Amino acid sequence: MAIQYKNLDQLKTMRRAGLLVGETLQLLRSSIKIGMRTDALDAMASANIKRGGATSNFLGYHGYPATICISINDEIVHGIPGDRIINDGDVISIDCGAIINGWHGDAAFSVGVGNVDPQDQALMDVCEESMWRGIAAGKLGANLSDIGHAIEQYIKSQGKYGILQEYGGHGIGTEMHQEPHVLNFGKRGYGPELVTGMALAIEPMITRGSAKTRVLEDDWTVVSTDKSRGAHFENSYAILPDGKPFVLTAIDGGRSGLTPLGIEISDLLQ
Ligand code: MF3
Ligand code: CO
Repeated sequence: MAIQYKNLDQLKTMRRAGLLVGETLQLLRSSIKIGMRTDALDAMASANIKRGGATSNFLGYHGYPATICISINDEIVHGIPGDRIINDGDVISIDCGAIINGWHGDAAFSVGVGNVDPQDQALMDVCEESMWRGIAAGKLGANLSDIGHAIEQYIKSQGKYGILQEYGGHGIGTEMHQEPHVLNFGKRGYGPELVTGMALAIEPMITRGSAKTRVLEDDWTVVSTDKSRGAHFENSYAILPDGKPFVLTAIDGGRSGLTPLGIEISDLLQ
């Protein structure tokens, strides 16, 4: 399948889906409490997506049994909600998506609970900033690989982190996962040129140790083989007809993340 280019009307619908995802993640972030079961957060997400007139793109995806992924500590991505209790000092990563009128949004964040180890906080901060650097590098006229290059270079400048190699970002539109695959590492200047109408989910996944992972017996949960803690941030963004980016899943359209990097966001969707 080829890259799907979206017109302004289609991106307006993607913004509705993306904004609902951003609001749902905000709700979950403010609801996380020590002692809570992870499936309580899943229920909240499900209710909020329904309230917004959307459906979940995760539920039933290749048989995935829930609305969110919730991954704790050495779990990095694709953890399944259940009866697990959230503990003091846990690093929690939550991934969520929604569909409105056939158009998808997909985003994720990590957050520490209670007394957070400063090195875990640094892990999450580096991961989040690398996502913004990736989006900033993925501007009109750049090559696809410039995104992964910017992500990798930033992470490497901040310390010794493992960057997952087997997982990455992706095109997004009338399916959650479209071409192109977006690596979180690489050289500058390769791959398709980024043009207006492209929508990409940028999602660095890193650990405090090795980048080696395995999948648990539940067939979903991705953990680090060395038990090191991981972080995952994700936003879906598009390049608008004015040539400027807009972060579809960020409540502020990405302004707070991109302005410090010298990138002006489009005002076509606000
Ligand atoms: N949101 C994940 C991604 O970023 C995919 C989740 S897989 C699912 O690509 F099965 F949980 F939906
Ligand atoms: Co994604």
